[in-house]
Amino acid sequence: MKYQDIDWDRIWREGRAGKSWKKRGNSDWDKRAPSYAKRQVGTPYADRFVKMMNPQADWTVLDVGCGPGTLALPLAPLVKKITAVDFSAEMLNELQARCATQGITNVKSLQASWTDDWQAKNIPIHDVAIASRSMSVEELGRALRKVNDWAAKKVFISDRVGSGPFDPELFKALGRNFEPGPDYIVTLNILYRMGIHPNVDYIHFERSKYFSSREDAVKGCHWMLDSLTAGEQLKLEAYVDERLRQNNDGMWVFTRRTPIKWAVISWEKE
Ligand SMILES: C[S@@+](CC[C@H](N)C(=O)[O-])C[C@H]1O[C@@H](n2cnc3c(N)ncnc32)[C@H](O)[C@@H]1O
Repeated sequence: MKYQDIDWDRIWREGRAGKSWKKRGNSDWDKRAPSYAKRQVGTPYADRFVKMMNPQADWTVLDVGCGPGTLALPLAPLVKKITAVDFSAEMLNELQARCATQGITNVKSLQASWTDDWQAKNIPIHDVAIASRSMSVEELGRALRKVNDWAAKKVFISDRVGSGPFDPELFKALGRNFEPGPDYIVTLNILYRMGIHPNVDYIHFERSKYFSSREDAVKGCHWMLDSLTAGEQLKLEAYVDERLRQNNDGMWVFTRRTPIKWAVISWEKE
C-alpha cells in the first residue's frame, strides 16, 4: 500500500458519518447559541489560542465559524479588523450583542457557510484566516483550500485531539456508544497532500473543572447529550456526583478521566 493511495477526504467523510455527536445544520447551532456562548466566551481556550497567534495591530482577520465570538472578541482590540463568519444567525446575534456591550466596533459579522460562494458574498482575502473548532464540513480538503486561499499571510485552525471536549466515560455510564469521529490527524494529512507542512501546537486542559454549583457541573456535561430520558438524566447526575467534590472555597470541582486536548494547526503563506 502506498501513502498516496489513502483517500483522507473519504476517511474524514466516513468517520463523520459514524460519529455520535452530530450537529449538521445552522438551526442546530442556532438552538445551542446562548448556552454555547455562556460556556465558551472568556475561557482559557480562547486566551491560549490568541496568544499562539501573536496577533499584530495591522492584521485583518477572517474568523470562519466564529460562533459567539470566542476568538473575535479577545482579538478585536489586538488587530485592525475582523470579519466574523458563521452560518448560524443566533451565534452572530450573540457576537453582536457582546460587541455592543464591550464597545467593539472593528468586528463585522457576516452570515455564510463554508460551502457558500465567498466571492459572491464579497468576503475579501484577509491577512490571517482562522477556523477554531469549526471545520464541520463534509469536504474537508475543499474547506482547507478555501481557508488557505482567503489568507494572505497566515492560517490558524484548531481541531479535536481524540475525543476533544467529549467525555467517553459519560457516554459509557449512560449505556451509550461513543464514536468521536475523525480528529486533527486527518486534517494534517490532507494539508500534507496539499503541500502544506504546518506547525502543530496543543491546548491541554486539566482533568478538573471548577463550577459554582452542582447544577452548573451537571450542565457542564449535559451539553454532550441532546435528548435524555428520565432514566438517563438520573444516570448523568449520578455520574457527576461521583466525580464532584466541594473545595474549601465552596467551589465544585468536577474531575473526569480523559483530559481535553485541542490541536492548533498553523502555517504561513509562501
Ligand atoms: C464548536 S463552534 C466553534 C465556535 C468558535 N469558533 C469557538 O472556537 O468557540 C462551531 C461553529 O461553527 C459554525 N459552523 C458549523 N458548520 C458551519 C458551516 N458549514 N459554515 C459556517 N459555520 C459553521 C457553528 O455555527 C458554530 O458557531
